Amino acid sequence: MANISNEEFNKIRNSVNIVDVIGNYVNLEKKGKNFFGICPFHDDHTPSMSVSFEKQIYTCFVCGASGNVFTFIRDFENISFLEAVKKIADYKGITLSKTINVQKKYDKEYKAYDLALKYYKNNLNTDLGKKAKEYLLSRKINEKIIEEFDIGVSLNDNNLSKLLISKNFSEDMLLNIGLVNKNEEIYDIFRNRIMFPIHNSNGIVIGFSGRIYNNEVDSKYINTRETYIFKKGETLFNYHRAVLDAKKNKYLILCEGQMDAIRIYSSGLKNVVATMGTALTREHINLIRKLNVRVVLNMDADKAGINAALINGDLIKNAGISVSVVTLTGAKDPDEYILKYGLDAYKDAISHAISLFDFKLNYLKSNKNLNNANDLSEYINNVIDELNKSNDDILKDVTISKLSEDYNIDKNILLSKLVNTEVKKDVTVKRKVKKQNQNIRAVEEILYYMMNNVKYAKIFTKELNYIPDKNYFDLEKDIQAYIILNNTINLADFISYEINNGKEELIKNIINNHDSDIEMDESEFTNYIKIVNKWVIDSKISNLKVELKNETDINKKKELMDLITKIKRGSEEYGK
Ligand code: GTP
Ligand code: MN
Repeated sequence: MANISNEEFNKIRNSVNIVDVIGNYVNLEKKGKNFFGICPFHDDHTPSMSVSFEKQIYTCFVCGASGNVFTFIRDFENISFLEAVKKIADYKGITLSKTINVQKKYDKEYKAYDLALKYYKNNLNTDLGKKAKEYLLSRKINEKIIEEFDIGVSLNDNNLSKLLISKNFSEDMLLNIGLVNKNEEIYDIFRNRIMFPIHNSNGIVIGFSGRIYNNEVDSKYINTRETYIFKKGETLFNYHRAVLDAKKNKYLILCEGQMDAIRIYSSGLKNVVATMGTALTREHINLIRKLNVRVVLNMDADKAGINAALINGDLIKNAGISVSVVTLTGAKDPDEYILKYGLDAYKDAISHAISLFDFKLNYLKSNKNLNNANDLSEYINNVIDELNKSNDDILKDVTISKLSEDYNIDKNILLSKLVNTEVKKDVTVKRKVKKQNQNIRAVEEILYYMMNNVKYAKIFTKELNYIPDKNYFDLEKDIQAYIILNNTINLADFISYEINNGKEELIKNIINNHDSDIEMDESEFTNYIKIVNKWVIDSKISNLKVELKNETDINKKKELMDLITKIKRGSEEYGK
């Protein structure tokens, strides 16, 4: 790690308030002295992450994710710790004493991809690329769009492999990033395909999607396989281009195919991304969450698209992001729709997006004849099931009233089928109670206190000064070292320090096991010291007893027995 001093880390960390920073990514609500939000680090449906203004840390009581503002940014953005520090420094206009080279790590990989992009693009303007160009133009992908999206074509040869090798890229690296394959010799993976570059959220090319345009190969699209730089589950097509406009327009269009995203974007709605045919992942949702905008889902019009809208809609909504759904009629996907009916018609459809709940009702109604009693009863039961999944009391009330009116059903019967949401809500803020060994529990609390206040570190040295577990005792030594260096300590800053020293996991557990509802208190601390002291003494005595058993010299045996008695007596006195 670059030599950045504690002081510098702490100054940067102190320049922001963790509640504001996390609040940019996750909706936070104040409950008591802490703020709560949906945890972005596991598949969370109820607010499990608490953020403390006072301590400037966060912790999730379900998955255990805990840390300071830097670790949050690091884990959320999937960047290194130093990059996260730099991000905050840049944001606050603080100049770092050392240069931090963002992404230097994958420079070679990115260069190889960039060269591949240029190569494919150039092919499109050669004789061999003519057919591909004609195909694109026939689909109304004009020169301007080709240029904007850097579309190219792979030919039926191994020239990319040869080119990359001639530029001294290592064969192993090229294999590892999925640009080439190898039998005896290395060869090009993509052949005879229109090539669409795929970028990461920083706008760097990390993969390709290749589409057939003549009938010489099977399977409509192939994508770069999963590599250490290309993770399909963490990549949304067009994300880097959509960010600004999504924020400006306060919504993001999510569609299925890159052709759809390209069409929507080049028609003028730049706030669009595509999933590239995969299921939406938590990482995808985190990318969307970062924009802090609502989502308009625009899946294909076929059965698979409707299913995808139902599933993705729930995933997005459960992540606390507001979502509505567009259903297109008369075309199978947004690309076809815009070509057929024009941009204005598409904009109109977007502005008539319906709520996810209404979309579900429409879906539940489809294929049912509501004049038929059986169908109607099934429909109403389905709607109630949906309502029971929701926490929205107003939605429940409105829907029940409407069902009752529309189908002439006694409102009380409908109401009686709702489960009580109050009960559900209560569970959300309850801590997970972990069974833990009492000694370890006490040690963790002692360390928690010490990481928060120099006073407790001093008491520890005076009263105990030992922990019979190496990992915890090492952490204790780090705490003392930190205090010597800095003259002070607080949890949020100490976390930065431990990133260098490798005990982050241990600290995470300690934070997570600590009940933040209980105020720190000196007499509690003294109690924990007593528990650990007893542990120390018990383990000393049991060690001595083993020695005693193995000792044959009668005098030494007596010495050991005296020592045991002395320790026992001492511990009784201490306990008083
Ligand atoms: P066009 O047919 O070119 O208009 O593309 P599309 O976006 O309409 O394709 P479709 O709706 O069939 O598929 C949606 C997305 O799923 C595509 O953009 C691809 O990313 C992905 N996809 C489709 N077919 C395949 C395939 O055969 N293999 C893989 N890996 N992905 C596919
Ligand atoms: Mn299409």
